[in-house]
Amino acid sequence: MKRFKTFKTFDIINIINIISIINLLVIINISVDAAAAAVDYNNYNNIIECNGDSDICDLYFYQVTFAGTHNSAAYNLKYDCNILAESCFLKANSNSCNQQYETCKQNRTTSCDIQTNLFKNWNPNYLHWTSDLFNSICKTSDVLCAAWYTICQKARNSCELLRDVCENEVPDQVLKCLWENNDGYPIKRQLEDGIRFLDLDTCQVGNESVVFCHGMGLSRALGADLDSIFLDIKEFMEDNPNEILNLGFGDYDGLDAPFVANFIQNKLEYHFVNGSGYSLMLQAKGGDDGSFEWPTLREMIEINQRIIIWFGPLYGWLGPLNNTRKDWVHNIESHYVSSYTYTAGDLTAQQLNDSFTKWSDNSQNIIADDLKNFGHIRWQTIDNTVGLELPGLEKSLKHKQSPGMLCLKDLANKINYNLLDYFFDIFKDKFPYIFKVSLDFYPQSNLFEVVKKLNQLNVQKFKIN
Ligand SMILES: *[C@@H]1O[C@H](CO)[C@@H](O)[C@H](O)[C@H]1NC(C)=O
Ligand SMILES: *[C@@H]1O[C@H](CO)[C@@H](O)[C@H](O)[C@H]1NC(C)=O
Ligand SMILES: *[C@@H]1O[C@H](CO)[C@@H](O)[C@H](O)[C@H]1NC(C)=O
Ligand SMILES: *[C@@H]1O[C@H](CO)[C@@H](O)[C@H](O)[C@H]1NC(C)=O
Ligand SMILES: *[C@@H]1O[C@H](CO)[C@@H](O)[C@H](O)[C@H]1NC(C)=O
Repeated sequence: MKRFKTFKTFDIINIINIISIINLLVIINISVDAAAAAVDYNNYNNIIECNGDSDICDLYFYQVTFAGTHNSAAYNLKYDCNILAESCFLKANSNSCNQQYETCKQNRTTSCDIQTNLFKNWNPNYLHWTSDLFNSICKTSDVLCAAWYTICQKARNSCELLRDVCENEVPDQVLKCLWENNDGYPIKRQLEDGIRFLDLDTCQVGNESVVFCHGMGLSRALGADLDSIFLDIKEFMEDNPNEILNLGFGDYDGLDAPFVANFIQNKLEYHFVNGSGYSLMLQAKGGDDGSFEWPTLREMIEINQRIIIWFGPLYGWLGPLNNTRKDWVHNIESHYVSSYTYTAGDLTAQQLNDSFTKWSDNSQNIIADDLKNFGHIRWQTIDNTVGLELPGLEKSLKHKQSPGMLCLKDLANKINYNLLDYFFDIFKDKFPYIFKVSLDFYPQSNLFEVVKKLNQLNVQKFKIN
């Protein structure tokens, strides 16, 4: 009954069957073994549903399209004020007070201005009078460089003040607006609704822990711990034995990448490998040289390996130096293209439209490059999300102001219907595999309709008999 198919061979067949770019294959001179591609469906008479759809059970894993959310654990977040305070301390330390004292004595006028500006940067508005006072005194006498020394050291206290302001002043509404892609829709609910790709951003907190979060550095907001969410996932998977779920660990924030990567991997092992060493997570056979083999959804259900783990940049930190990587951790980069890689700078619906249009117009080159660089065609994704840069955030917090409202939700409403249909149209014939469609605020979207349409198309394309 085991009948795993080589990814590479099947890719090549599919290009011919589906998008008829035979010329491309002739140019790059790849021979095709047509017999190897025939899939025997006659063995399968028992009808089951796989992810709620009996038609897709006998498709290989990579021939199926999954519905996803972006930043799936981004709800109930709290802005990380410690990081803000730490950055303030760092700035205070990087201009050591002793050193400034020496410079001050040597070059009084300039130093006074520089130090005054630094001081202003660290401090809230209502302390600025102290720096102006300092500046005027500083310029009149060497002796007062010593006074600067005292003020300089006090700046550390104003970092504490900043932390305080931050903790008490970041309004709930700002958090919801900027960070919470899934406000009111916790992972449990997402799973019940049919989301089958969870995008999980993580942040290192101190030396001991990693939690779910959204954003990086100064703009990061922290959410739930890994255990609570993995427990919800496990419960859902046990209650629903015919469901296949992807977990993607893409962005992370933290200085110790090997620590973050190993922390996540250990937690996954703890929750999804049982006492007999039995893994609920799929171990795809083969290597990253393109020789990967993937089972069908039906086979995954039969062997009960129904969670597929994806690591982004963290993948490399699990090996080869450390060689701690488990077989059930798969590399995003060698398998699929996150559309975010070419839409990252987009802030409006129009910009997003331009990026996707350009990408699909270039599909032949993209496919040819993949074959050259990876030995197989990578899967595409339609992640209908825009990035939000938060340059003014730190400044706003210092001044107790709201950073202005550019809400994720408003943007999502502009791109979750018409634009999503449009991306479906321009991708469906250009790329053989559309692995996932992910949105912010999926309840206000036609996500499931679009995924259903893609899977109906997948069945037409790939079910040869
Ligand atoms: C004073 O310090 C500034 C900045 O460190 C430097 O650019 C300038 O040349 C110095 N002036 C003198 C007279 O040393
Ligand atoms: C983190 O670890 C470093 C050394 O490994 C130590 O110096 C530092 O105090 C630790 N920080 C915390 C917050 O535990
Ligand atoms: C682990 O899972 C397998 C397969 O479901 C089961 O046969 C085995 O009894 C489980 N072992 C433990 C210790 O729960
Ligand atoms: C290996 O992993 C450990 C955590 O398990 C980490 O502390 C260490 O830095 C890693 N080493 C390398 C070379 O990546
Ligand atoms: C996206 O842009 C294309 C032109 O590149 C345009 O034809 C199309 O109508 C736009 N789609 C939407 C939904 O705005």
